[in-house]
Amino acid sequence: MKDNNKYNRRSFIETASLFAAGVYVMPLFSSCKPDTSSAHPNVGTTVNSDFNADVDIQLKAVQSSTRILSAKNTDTYSYKGSLIMGDKQTLQQLEGSALGPIIRVKKGDKLRIRFENEISEKSIIHWHGLHVSHENDGHPEHVIDKGGTYIYEFEVMNRAGTYWFHPHPHGHTGEQVYKGLAGLFIVTDEEEKALNLPTGDYDIPVVIQDRTFDKNSQLVYLSNGRMDQMQGFLGNRILINGKVDNTLSLNKDGKYRLRLLNGSNSRAYKLAWNTGEPITIFGVDGGLLESPKTLPYLLLGPAQRVDVWLDLSKKSENEELKLIHLPIPLDNMMSGGMMGGGMMGNKSDNSLPYNSRFDIININVGAPKKNNSSLPDRLLASSTLNPNDATNRNSPRTFNFGMEGMMKWAINGRTYNGMEVAEDETVKLNTTEVWRINNGGNISTGNQNDGGGMMGNNRGMMGNGSGMGNMMQMPHPVHIHQLQFNIINRNTENVDQNLWNAVKDGFIDEGRQDSVYLLPGMYMDLVMRFEDFKGLFLYHCHNLEHEDMGMMRNFKIE
Ligand code: C2O
Ligand code: CU
Repeated sequence: MKDNNKYNRRSFIETASLFAAGVYVMPLFSSCKPDTSSAHPNVGTTVNSDFNADVDIQLKAVQSSTRILSAKNTDTYSYKGSLIMGDKQTLQQLEGSALGPIIRVKKGDKLRIRFENEISEKSIIHWHGLHVSHENDGHPEHVIDKGGTYIYEFEVMNRAGTYWFHPHPHGHTGEQVYKGLAGLFIVTDEEEKALNLPTGDYDIPVVIQDRTFDKNSQLVYLSNGRMDQMQGFLGNRILINGKVDNTLSLNKDGKYRLRLLNGSNSRAYKLAWNTGEPITIFGVDGGLLESPKTLPYLLLGPAQRVDVWLDLSKKSENEELKLIHLPIPLDNMMSGGMMGGGMMGNKSDNSLPYNSRFDIININVGAPKKNNSSLPDRLLASSTLNPNDATNRNSPRTFNFGMEGMMKWAINGRTYNGMEVAEDETVKLNTTEVWRINNGGNISTGNQNDGGGMMGNNRGMMGNGSGMGNMMQMPHPVHIHQLQFNIINRNTENVDQNLWNAVKDGFIDEGRQDSVYLLPGMYMDLVMRFEDFKGLFLYHCHNLEHEDMGMMRNFKIE
């Protein structure tokens, strides 16, 4: 820990002086070592004839025009897929939606994906949650221009689960996802197939996103500039699978798997059934849980996925069932509180307030039709990493997610800078570690940020602290590339009690995950293992506006 502190301070001073000297435009000369070890002359540019693909797909990012609202088409971006080789079920287009095709593959499949960029901005695709090499991970440094092609070749090593893909060009991820570039990537495996879970029409994708349209049916993004960016985009209506029609027509007596993805740029949802029945979850980011879990409601942060079990055998035909968002007291933090005091003005948009109730999905219970699926009590053998295997069980590698200076979101005071990676972001292959991700929680080391103190041990914006650091706390949905971790501790001592009481029963800490929702005042300990691939991978805030502002860093596996 001491070393980290020393490093941070040195890095900051050197960075600051380089910046002052005007040479900081060249990240190669900065104080942090750039990584070039994984550079390969033909990365992404050629088809490797030794790679025997089972599935070969062309995926184009294109400018598109989509009838989302009834009045007029909306200018969007879309991924258009076509199958060059592989099972016919591999690509499933979503009719009438700008969102990408659903890609369905099996564990062990070898995939070649030819990404062609036809939009007039640089782009690259990241396979969110997949365990792939640096070259296949969609690193922002691998962006291609309009007219370019990037060829991915990788084996699907993940277990069955709901993963997804979206662009990752630094500074433009938020806008490109917002305009429609995102799709589900569904993996199946033998273990899951043996379970008799719902398939086909009973396995339903539900991508939840918030959007704002203007009078001409065009998407509005960050209309308040920097203020919206600091907060993250919040829309005024909910789209399901890219559509405003949120009705699912399902069969009475049906047993369904709803695969939920929160594909929103920054919004989290507190999801519950309108009937007050508890919600049953049986899978998370990295696949099935060992056993299903029943919660009164579920908190789903950006980029998180869950599998919801829905049994309509006790419903009657035409009964109304809705998945709704329940109020969360977060608005103050987002506008009046965080940005308040007149400093940045008050919330001026008409985004859906967090602290309100609104519909997410409307379920229309139709005529009876049974399927033979069931939800077993035991889904999977344990797949939990043992924290005692960690090289740093009692001294976790700590990452503070918070404000740097007045108006910049950062991680340990640093922001994204190309291939730059610091010593305290370097880990060893074939090791297990504990990482502590902290959003102003009361961590006991006490001197993490002894230099600046911005995000140190303050009491949270609604606590008794004072000063900018305290006022500028927000939730940060943290995502780590390339691996699936287990949560071993979630410390909430410093979370505002009003907020905590509203959400505390909605977290799932079981199962393998790649994205977590880190509330102000919270810290979490995650156990993870670095396997199979050396190289640079990202970890970042998945509030896409925060990410685009630089709340993203590399870690290096060596
Ligand atoms: Cu879904 Cu690096 O992101
Ligand atoms: Cu953030």
